[in-house]
Amino acid sequence: MEKIYVNTGSRPYYIYIIENNWEPLITALSSCVKSKKFFVICDENVYPLYYPTLDKLLTKHEYEHNVVVIPPGESSKSLECANYLYTEALNAHLDRQSTIIALGGGVVGDISGFIAATYMRGIGFIQIPTTLLAQIDSSIGGKVAVNHPAAKNIIGSFYQPNLVYINVNTLNTLPKREFVGGMAELIKYGYIWDIEFLNWIEKNIDSILSLNTNTLIHAIRRACEIKSHIVERDEKEEGLRVILNFGHTIGHAIEAATNYKTYIHGEAIALGMVYEAKLANRLSLIEQTYVYRLIQLLEKCSLPTKLSGIDSSLLIDKMSLDKKNRGGNIIFILPTGAGAVDLYTDIDNTLLHEVLST
Ligand code: NAD
Ligand code: GLY
Repeated sequence: MEKIYVNTGSRPYYIYIIENNWEPLITALSSCVKSKKFFVICDENVYPLYYPTLDKLLTKHEYEHNVVVIPPGESSKSLECANYLYTEALNAHLDRQSTIIALGGGVVGDISGFIAATYMRGIGFIQIPTTLLAQIDSSIGGKVAVNHPAAKNIIGSFYQPNLVYINVNTLNTLPKREFVGGMAELIKYGYIWDIEFLNWIEKNIDSILSLNTNTLIHAIRRACEIKSHIVERDEKEEGLRVILNFGHTIGHAIEAATNYKTYIHGEAIALGMVYEAKLANRLSLIEQTYVYRLIQLLEKCSLPTKLSGIDSSLLIDKMSLDKKNRGGNIIFILPTGAGAVDLYTDIDNTLLHEVLST
């Protein structure tokens, strides 16, 4: 068992990383919740896979609990779904001492956190992430949100969980496409922070892709350490935390330009990282070989690395709506050297068009 302490100003908490064992959850819960009343939120795919075990465990330890199951997919991150969850929370008589458990991927984590942050102005919140993306990124750091029909993640808050409990063996049932989507975010940590970690991922890529438990635990632990370290220093994205957005300016624009239908999040981020690395190369910030290295690793994961059929003007239009923008300027997080990135703005439009068309 691995344990990482996340010391955020608003609320410190532990991330547990466990291999196929649910029992330690009870000890972990008992030290961070206010009462034995829980409200589990999961989606229709995760419910039959992992809720029965959680149900049995909570029952065995006499924890009162209800479960609400929502449809899988991004469309559940809506105010309509939130309203349904508030109603179910009221029906279950949740009070200020109660705790919401998010059992699932980033969609369930984000909307559950939003409910936990707003129901009665904030109740307990536990993350049990079951996708690679959720285990290394979305469950840590307290970004909780639902979407507006016109913009993703636009209604939300920063609300740190009381506990993140990662059972790496839940990844065994994750569809391959979802797993490799998470790989894009794993590789991102190497590029933004830790070149040694990037070297390690390259060396161990076959073992990671074959879901070797020990390799996965190492990978997830290092990613969680890096994200925690960044979030501890800048909880509300007022400075350093923005570096987590490498690949996201172009990646989010790709998702929006394709109506969130062609690519899953990690695939769009893979493309975004490639084109932001190409942009960095054109600005002489990094060598061409460093761009190839990224492309090779992403291709090894069967992630897309070449844009096709999306007009560069449409992408630039979408980028102009990015939440990170400042004073009307598009913000880019670009690689500047081995395991390092920096924030850039005022990128020449002609250059951007050229890079997006390569
Ligand atoms: P997801 O939650 O939609 O899960 C992907 C699919 O896998 C779903 O169909 C789900 O039912 C299924 N699934 C989940 N766990 C499974 C398992 N163990 N076995 C079998 N199937 C399983 O997608 P995601 O990639 O986890 O999350 C994407 C969301 O995360 C997006 O809404 C994105 O905006 C958000 N996000 C948030 C943050 C943050 O900091 N809060 C960071 C990155 C992404
Ligand atoms: N996923 C980006 C962040 O948490 O800031």
